This record gives sequence, structure tokens and C-alpha cells, in this order.
Amino acid sequence: MTDVDDAVLVVDFGAQYARLIARRVREAHVYSEIVPPSITVEAVRARRPRGIILSGGPKSVYEEHGPSIDPAIYELGVPILGICYGAQLLVLQLGGTVTRTGRGEYGRTRLELTGSSPLFVDWPEAAEVWMSHGDSITGVPEGFVATACGPESPVAALHDQARRIYGVQFHPEVVHTDRGKDLLERFLHDVCASPADWTHVSIIESQVAAVQAQVGGARVLCALSGGVDSAVAAALVHKAIGDQLTCVFVDTGLMRAGEAEQVEDTFRRQFHIDLVHVKAADRFFEALAGVTDPERKRKIIGELFIRIFEEVARDMGAGTGGEGPRFLVQGTLYPDVIESGTGEAASIKSHHNVGGLPEDLAFDLVEPLRLLFKDEVRAVGEELGLPAEIVWRQPFPGPGLAVRIVGEVTPERAEILRAADAVVVEEIRKAGLYRELWQSFAVLPAVRTVGVMGDGRSYAYPIVIRAVTSDDAMTADWARLPYDLVERMATRIINEVEGVNRVALDVTSKPPGTIEWE
Ligand code: XMP
Repeated sequence: MTDVDDAVLVVDFGAQYARLIARRVREAHVYSEIVPPSITVEAVRARRPRGIILSGGPKSVYEEHGPSIDPAIYELGVPILGICYGAQLLVLQLGGTVTRTGRGEYGRTRLELTGSSPLFVDWPEAAEVWMSHGDSITGVPEGFVATACGPESPVAALHDQARRIYGVQFHPEVVHTDRGKDLLERFLHDVCASPADWTHVSIIESQVAAVQAQVGGARVLCALSGGVDSAVAAALVHKAIGDQLTCVFVDTGLMRAGEAEQVEDTFRRQFHIDLVHVKAADRFFEALAGVTDPERKRKIIGELFIRIFEEVARDMGAGTGGEGPRFLVQGTLYPDVIESGTGEAASIKSHHNVGGLPEDLAFDLVEPLRLLFKDEVRAVGEELGLPAEIVWRQPFPGPGLAVRIVGEVTPERAEILRAADAVVVEEIRKAGLYRELWQSFAVLPAVRTVGVMGDGRSYAYPIVIRAVTSDDAMTADWARLPYDLVERMATRIINEVEGVNRVALDVTSKPPGTIEWE
């Protein structure tokens, strides 16, 4: 994938900070890229960025091994905005002073403007901003003027207009800062003169062109999982190369209710994509018979998936050196690329890489989403005409329902879970909570309990309702679902799903729990 011109580079002094800034820049329709502090001045120059933003970070500029950048970057003539740690660093590197005053500022703070600045156009004289710092800027470097102060910040904003270098002690990227969005837009559009041309339409156009240039007339394969990323990647590649693309959907028997039909309907009937639908539930259940260990389940599912995918690819002539498919579409997203730290996404992600494909089936990867954040992927998916049920689908683990069926995975137990899960999802949707929850689903434990139904006693499975809020699945909070909603789900599950006589609610956050039960 080629680099996009006119990028604004966000130097990463703390991953969460840099990511949020990069997203805010994109929301202003300017392409942003996260780069490590170790980036060389030559590499920056080669990218010809419109601007550079130095992010905030968790460290103090006085800490040993606090991250730093090559000060030659200040001489490039590229506009620079330092935020919090980034502002303190540029002040120190350019000869100003940062002091451990012992009086930091945390949370909403009143900012007073003390000078005019192109970043503060139309601001009131005082505004509420979000601060989070222990050290304070106490002296500006030569050529700089202070433009704002806070109760504990003698210099809460400063600039050197001649060099187009700006610093703010507060965080314009967080929603608690009044006019933070305006400030970033002033920097991007006025100071950096970045056009607002990073839009869903332009993303699609540029990625379509990039895919066409990469694959030429070759055939391309894409494994559809039912999830958002592979669906959007497939739709984008199809827009680029039409019937050179074949999608493969392996129905493992461990999908959610209606998922296989949805994939058929969307890709075959609506998009007219060449779709190979492999109905392989029997093979998966056979391979999983008697297996209870979660990691073994994952491995078995991953390996069988690869084997089936390989069979389809070979049937199509892959690996023969002839006209078979040479490329494989991957729904790699920008956060995966950043996380791999190399700028290159890890080869084949999630469950598709367990075991890996044999060497003679070495595909070149097509990764049309590798520059995009998840919200951009969803917007692109909507723009391409994918249905909302796919575009807004909650994350679903590669091994599917198998990691929500504690103990042995059998067709009967999968059916119980699928039916209960469908009730949970339907009720969550009806309550209007589906999009705000990170995940909401049913889990089937490996115990049975006694119940009483009608005149008789029952001995059947419980279903656990699991619903969490989260930003990135690294941590999660159990969702405080309304009790009447929980009651509706419980009543319906017990009435409608044979084999279930009890419903429980999981009130564990992550940590200490994981989101999935296995
Ligand atoms: P946990 O359960 O570890 O899950 O809190 C974090 C996120 O990852 C998903 N997950 C998986 N995704 N293969 C996947 O592709 C897996 O084996 C797997 N296990 C968990 C989970 O749904 C959640 O979003």
C-alpha cells in the first residue's frame, strides 16, 4: 500500500494519547499517521508531512528514558504542535524551562487567554480545558510567546509564529476540552494548510486504485468470516477488481444465528460476488468431539479452517503456477499495523494463522484497510452499501461459539447456545443498546442444574448473559443492563430454548475476567 500524501505525523509518546489524536485529525478529514519518537529527521523529510503533532504521554520529561525526538525536526520548517508532554519536550529542547512545581493540574481546568494565537480564533477569554500534568512550563524558549495560562500553569499555551511551532499544556483531543476540536482544526487547516480531503469517498477511491495497481489482472481470494473487517475488505476489493475476486465462507457450524444466510444474501445476491460457501459443520463437530480444553479447541478449529481454505484454493488452481489465485485479502486494520511496531502488519491474523498455509500456497496479501481505524472501516462499509447488520456487528471471536460453549462442543449444545444467543441479541437490539455495548452474547456452561417446570422437575443447562462495554477489548466493564431487559431475556430464553432452565448474569469486569468464557 502506498503512503498517502499530505499526512500529519503524530509522534507517539504514549500509545493511547497518540491514537486518540490521530483519530481526531482524521475526523477533521486530514490523513494522520502515527510514528515512533525514534523516527529520523530524514524519514520525516521523506514523508513530506503537512504538520507534526507531538503527543502527550504518561512520563515526565525529567524521567530517565523519557521518550524524546531528534531536535533537528524543529528545523524542518514543518508546522509542529506539541500537546502536554509533547509541549514540555519542545520547550526543553528549544531552551525554555519546565519545572517540577509539585502542583500539577488534573481534570477540568480554567484556561485564560493571555495573547492572540491562530489556534484560539474566536475563543472566549476563558475556557474549560482538560489538563493532566505534574510538571509545568515556567519559561518560554527564545522566540516564543505565552498565549494562555491556567491556575497552576504560568504557560499553558505558547508559540513561535515565525517557526510555526505551537505548544499546549492541555489536551485538545479529549471531549472535555471546550473547543478542542476547533483548536485542532485551526492547526490543521490554517497553520498546516491541510485540505479536508480525507473522506470516506476519497478513501474508497484511493484504495480501489491501490488494489488495482497491486493485483493487475490476477485472481484474488478472500475468506469471509461474517465480521465487519473481512466484509468491508471484500466489498472494497470487489469494487476494485469485480469478478477477479472469489470469496470463501466456511460455515463451521459455530456461527451466530442467521450469519451464514446474511453472508449469502449480502455477497452473492446483493453484490454478485463469486462466493464459495463451504458447509463444513460436520467436519468441525467431528474434529471437536470429546475436546474440552479451550486452547485445543482453538487450535483444532484454526487448523481445520486452514485445511478447508487450502482445499478450495487448490480446487481453483492456486499453487500450480497457472491461472489460480495469487493474492489473499486480509482485513488488517491500522491498530494492528501500529501494534506490530514494524509498520508491517503481522502476516495472517487471528484464527486464520493457526498452523498457517503451506509454502506452495504462499499468497501475496492485499490489505485495503491497513490505513484505517475501525470507525473509518464502518463508514467505508456503509458508503459501499453493506447492510447495517454487518457494518455494526459486534466483534466475534474467530473460533466462534466454541469458546462460549464450556466443555464439549456438540451440535446439540451449539444449537442451544445459538438459540439463546439469538434471544439476547434480539432483545439488546430492541432495547437500542446493541451499538453502545462492545459485546453482548450468551454463554453455555458445562453444568446442569435442577429446576421445576410445570409439574415436573427439570435437569438442564443454565445460560449466562454476558454484556460488556469496552473501547478496545483490553479492559472491559460489565454492562449495567436494565433489570426489565434482563428479565425479558431470561423469560424468553427459558420459554423458547429447549434444554435451558436457568439464566444467570455475568457481573465480572476485565480484568479479572476475560470477555469470553474460554
Ligand atoms: P477476551 O476473552 O480475551 O477477548 O477478553 C478479547 C476480545 O478478543 C476476542 N477473542 C478472540 N478473537 N480469536 C479471535 O479472533 C480468538 O480465539 C479469540 N478469543 C477472544 C473476544 O471476542 C473479545 O472481543
